[in-house]
Amino acid sequence: METKLIKANADSEVSEPVLMAAEVLKKGGLVAIPTETVYGLAANALDENAVAGIFDAKGRPQDNPLIVHIAEISELQPLVTDIPEKARLLAKAFWPGPLTMIFKRSPLIPAVVSAGLDSVAIRMPSHPLARAIIKAAGVPLAAPSANLSGSPSPTCAQHVLQDLNGRIPLIIDGGTCNVGLESTVVSLVGETPALLRPGGISVEQLSAVIGEITIDKGILNKLEDNRKVSSPGMKYKHYSPKANVIILDGDSDLYCKYVNSIPNAFGLCFQEDIPKLTVPYVSFGSEKDDSEQAHLLFNALRELDRRGAKTVYARAPKQTGVSLAVYNRLLRAAGFQVIKIS
Ligand code: TXA
Ligand code: MG
Repeated sequence: METKLIKANADSEVSEPVLMAAEVLKKGGLVAIPTETVYGLAANALDENAVAGIFDAKGRPQDNPLIVHIAEISELQPLVTDIPEKARLLAKAFWPGPLTMIFKRSPLIPAVVSAGLDSVAIRMPSHPLARAIIKAAGVPLAAPSANLSGSPSPTCAQHVLQDLNGRIPLIIDGGTCNVGLESTVVSLVGETPALLRPGGISVEQLSAVIGEITIDKGILNKLEDNRKVSSPGMKYKHYSPKANVIILDGDSDLYCKYVNSIPNAFGLCFQEDIPKLTVPYVSFGSEKDDSEQAHLLFNALRELDRRGAKTVYARAPKQTGVSLAVYNRLLRAAGFQVIKIS
């Protein structure tokens, strides 16, 4: 299959690329679309066969459910059986934007979307092209990140092409994604809201709106085999470059000293570390700027592969604010290998 890559700008709702994407989606095809978080691989969420195509194209495990994307709050009601009050508050505060909420699934959503679970994940993206494409297609869109399963999520159209060239008919190129990490996932089906995946909306921001929120153990800990998981995505090796990544938890001086002493090591460092490093490195932004780290991390992981890095020592981000999401992705890229240095 030939993969077309079409550049689009977000100025108008009914541009040629938007209409082309809608046409493919209406016929049950797949289109990679930009969102503010990462690129998504979209299909009509109400069409079982179209959704099955997503799993094929990505090589995604069948038991990992997808997020359904909507453009207007009025599209939520038919997709779920119940909208809890806290969900309304979160939607008011953070939609459209990088927040996904888990609800009880209505029969309208085919089981394949939710990998057989009785819940469904819903998100209203803020990217104008994503919204325009959902509206033009006239249906909610199921969309996981548009990467091959296991590799870092795509933050620009070139990343999508690297992974999915020849596997999907169309990529809409809307430039680089602003946030750069996937949405925050919060479940509202249990007693207490639960954070299942940290992202562009921080725990602190969520708590300010809905109070108590539990943080799933799987976010910072490796799951034991066979443990029942709240979010199937937690089980899988993720975001991995080909290099072996090891996280070093320590301050800038200790980090640089450690990495400099290892022959053939690559650094995945903060900007502040650069003057002290004598080994090759890729930086993922300033130690003080968690949004910048989120924006740069996945590109940095792909860059390390491009440069042929074999062993990478990453400087550990903090575990507060948006850095928690950065740390969570890096932990998975590192297969949970962390060395505390002092
Ligand atoms: O920012 C994003 O969320 C991007 C863009 C494209 O919107 N999408 C994305 O999708 O990251 P994906 O498929 O890569 O990640 C979806 C995550 C997985 O960890 C999955 O297990 C979880 O959401 N998930 C989906 N439905 C769920 C459900 N019903 N219950 C629990 N977890 C669910
Ligand atoms: Mg993904």
